[in-house]
Amino acid sequence: MTIDFKPLCYSLVKYSSTLFLYFFISIFINKTYAAEGGPCKDYGECEEFKHSLTDMPSLQSGASTFITYCYGCHSLQYSRWNRVSSDLEIPEEIFFNSLVFDPSIKPGDLMVGSMSKQDSAEWFGVAPPDLTLVTRLHGSDWVYTYLKTFYEDSSKQYGVNNLVYPGVAMPNVLAALQGNQQLVCKNVPVIASNGGEKRDDLGKTITEEKCGYLSVKEGTGTLNEQEFDKLIYDLTNFLTYVGDPDKIERERLGWYVVFFFIIFTALSSLLYREYQKDYH
Ligand code: HEC
Repeated sequence: MTIDFKPLCYSLVKYSSTLFLYFFISIFINKTYAAEGGPCKDYGECEEFKHSLTDMPSLQSGASTFITYCYGCHSLQYSRWNRVSSDLEIPEEIFFNSLVFDPSIKPGDLMVGSMSKQDSAEWFGVAPPDLTLVTRLHGSDWVYTYLKTFYEDSSKQYGVNNLVYPGVAMPNVLAALQGNQQLVCKNVPVIASNGGEKRDDLGKTITEEKCGYLSVKEGTGTLNEQEFDKLIYDLTNFLTYVGDPDKIERERLGWYVVFFFIIFTALSSLLYREYQKDYH
């Protein structure tokens, strides 16, 4: 009995190319729509944030900033201490001795936070939300921009407001590092309808005063602008990791899947051609 391989080869090629197509369409859709943060309100477009989840020093520094400055109010209740320490390649002993301190916390515990929801709701008017999924909810771009756009506003309870989250109930906990950020006015060139700068008869650029620009008072923070940006980058990188801890592994495996598809499609189309020869 002879087996006719032709239909089999034909469907192999058909299915593998369909899978291939599906794979690229899903990458495209993912790139276009996923992690799309909400618009950054008064700030306009959010600043772009590109995560780097294999950059361990960045994730470690983000974790340390989070536990030092944020964990007092915000929990990460869907992640466990030992998972974070092993994913971030921090030996458990060092992690617990230098960051966690509290001896009643066990490595397998969830990071449920240290503040009671009821107290905090009384203090801030709203309980600080859990931040495990915050980068999934708003997008990393939003979180990154939000953390950089606190500014002084004496009409508010904590003397600060935020461009991305106007009227926010969170104090600016990083003010000592960033310095006093304020909204200032600047003279900016007037843009003509053709997109260029407007000039007067003498060729001088015409300017107008516009307000709402962020500016940090010099010498008021312990970090300079680049250092503060890096701190917020690492912090947002860490929050991106916490929101989806398997992302690193998925992105790594994805490449093997692509290689498999390429080789499989090539092999099955060769096989198909081989069998086609019998029919001509
Ligand atoms: C003193 C308590 C406190 C500390 C410390 C604190 N926050 Fe908050 N945070 C709040 C409160 C309260 C809110 C809710 C604000 C609101 O809804 O108006 C909030 C809201 C947020 C939000 C918006 C969440 C959402 O879904 O709307 C993010 C993001 C956030 N905090 C990040 C941080 C980070 C990162 C740190 C550490 C650098 C930090 N917070 C430190 C009290 C705090």
